[in-house]
Amino acid sequence: MPIADPEVLADGPAVAEWVAARLLQARLDHPELPLGLATGRTMEPVYGALVGRVRAWPQPRQQTLRDHWCSFNLDEYVGLGPGDPDSFAAFMDRQLAAPLGLERARLQLPDGLASDPSLEARRYGAELAAAGGIGLQLLGLGLNGHIGFNEPPCGAETRSCCVTLSASTRAQNAGAFGGSPQAVPAQALTLGLVEILAAREILLVVTGAAKAPVLQRLLQDPPGPQLPASWLHLHPAVTLVVDRAAWGRG
Ligand code: GLP
Repeated sequence: MPIADPEVLADGPAVAEWVAARLLQARLDHPELPLGLATGRTMEPVYGALVGRVRAWPQPRQQTLRDHWCSFNLDEYVGLGPGDPDSFAAFMDRQLAAPLGLERARLQLPDGLASDPSLEARRYGAELAAAGGIGLQLLGLGLNGHIGFNEPPCGAETRSCCVTLSASTRAQNAGAFGGSPQAVPAQALTLGLVEILAAREILLVVTGAAKAPVLQRLLQDPPGPQLPASWLHLHPAVTLVVDRAAWGRG
């Protein structure tokens, strides 16, 4: 299966540097193709490494990156807007847009404050399609095997939509909401498997020992709805990047 041959690196910082270099390469090689970006704890060191690399560039090269930046995030909580520090819009602003001096409009996310979330999810999917679809898609992995916010069970034909978050996901993400799963929004907008699998390339990033069991499931299971990430086996160009802790073999 395409994702069976991972890039195993020593630790989280090594993974972050590797992924940051790959994202920047994609931005420079294919400025016409939007990047697909993700949020979560896995991505914080990745964006930190990316910002560190760009700040070491000469100013004209930094400006070229700013002038050509185009990215679409996977997901957003329903009910949270950019002004809420727990929104993914605010996360992207803190991690990437502000430190790099990127225009906010160049980082697209679904609008968590839209009055009709299902309509907004479809609008966002259509906007991505109009931009040509994703070039390189960055993905983290949920403890229940979700990618984006595509919760199990989830078919490969799922398009951008509004989803109800599982108890497991609300518990996983409670840290950002004062530790209370009930404080995590009950619903989210997410790109679907259709938009994710349409990316030209996918980088799946998995770090930390807590992810070792779900990663082993992913590597063993055939594609199926109970583990949404398993649909990635159907994609021809997935690179799995892991640290030794997640790999679970030293
Ligand atoms: C979150 C996000 C995903 C993210 C995943 C892993 O809920 N919706 O896009 O990749 O779950 O999160 P973390 O990196 O914090 O473990």
